Amino acid sequence: MSRTVLITGNSSGLGRGLTGIYLERGWEVYGVSRRGCSGLPGKLKDIHCDLTDFEAVPVAMETLLMGIGHLDAVYLNAGILGRMQDMHESSLEEIRQVMDANVWSNKVLLDWLLGSGIRIDQIVLISSGAAVNGNRGWGAYSISKAALNMLTQLYAHEFPHTHLCALAPGLIDTAMQDVLCDPQQVDESRFPSVARLRAARHTPDMPQPGEAAELIANALAELKQLPSGSFVDIRTMGKS
Ligand SMILES: NC(=O)c1ccc[n+]([C@@H]2O[C@H](COP(=O)([O-])OP(=O)(O)OC[C@H]3O[C@@H](n4cnc5c(N)ncnc54)[C@H](OP(=O)(O)O)[C@@H]3O)[C@@H](O)[C@H]2O)c1
Repeated sequence: MSRTVLITGNSSGLGRGLTGIYLERGWEVYGVSRRGCSGLPGKLKDIHCDLTDFEAVPVAMETLLMGIGHLDAVYLNAGILGRMQDMHESSLEEIRQVMDANVWSNKVLLDWLLGSGIRIDQIVLISSGAAVNGNRGWGAYSISKAALNMLTQLYAHEFPHTHLCALAPGLIDTAMQDVLCDPQQVDESRFPSVARLRAARHTPDMPQPGEAAELIANALAELKQLPSGSFVDIRTMGKS
């Protein structure tokens, strides 16, 4: 029987990288994003859906996962950065958009998965070091990832037969980094934490999405050894 994985946000970046890795390994991949994912060989079924359209999400999931009784893994990976700015400059509306994409869409997905009757071995919610760093300018994004970590911990109680974790994937060379590493878009003198990202780009400290995806896929079994609900940074895994 084929192994199965659901990946949100699989049109680009890490989600597309994960999709490629699992397809190469012969898994059936179910994906969801607004733009869709094409051009990868293998057993891929994906659906276009804006995950912040909360009423559309359950309908899309019913269509995507019709007839599926078991998922070996789920990656709740879709996310947005929002604007890099000070908290006092951030409007509630901008913060709300980031929270909708990075937190509440995942609540809607988890609720749907919980009620679906699908047996799920493992759910990985893609978090970030920004969940705990609190660096200047990362406002809504940091708040959303901190909330995602707590969401993971809380839902772990409600999924007794599924292992949940929030995983910081480390730096990955994706569209998010195109923004963070662009001096026209983010002023390093105001937001000095981006200097570390810019120095890491095009070095092994910021792998390409496919490489990062492979590391994560290979870490699944080790993640499962941790208490369900844990927050883990892949860069410190196994080093205590
Ligand atoms: N890159 C890094 O260094 C880094 C570091 C730490 C954590 N992360 C996390 O890694 C995850 C993936 O990010 P990435 O770096 O790969 O960025 P990315 O290339 O911008 O990918 C983001 C993905 O999320 C999807 N998405 C965003 N909003 C969506 C919505 N409303 N509905 C459906 N899908 C949506 C996008 O698809 P569509 O636009 O097609 O909808 C896209 O596939 C995010 O959770 C991010 O916070 C990244």
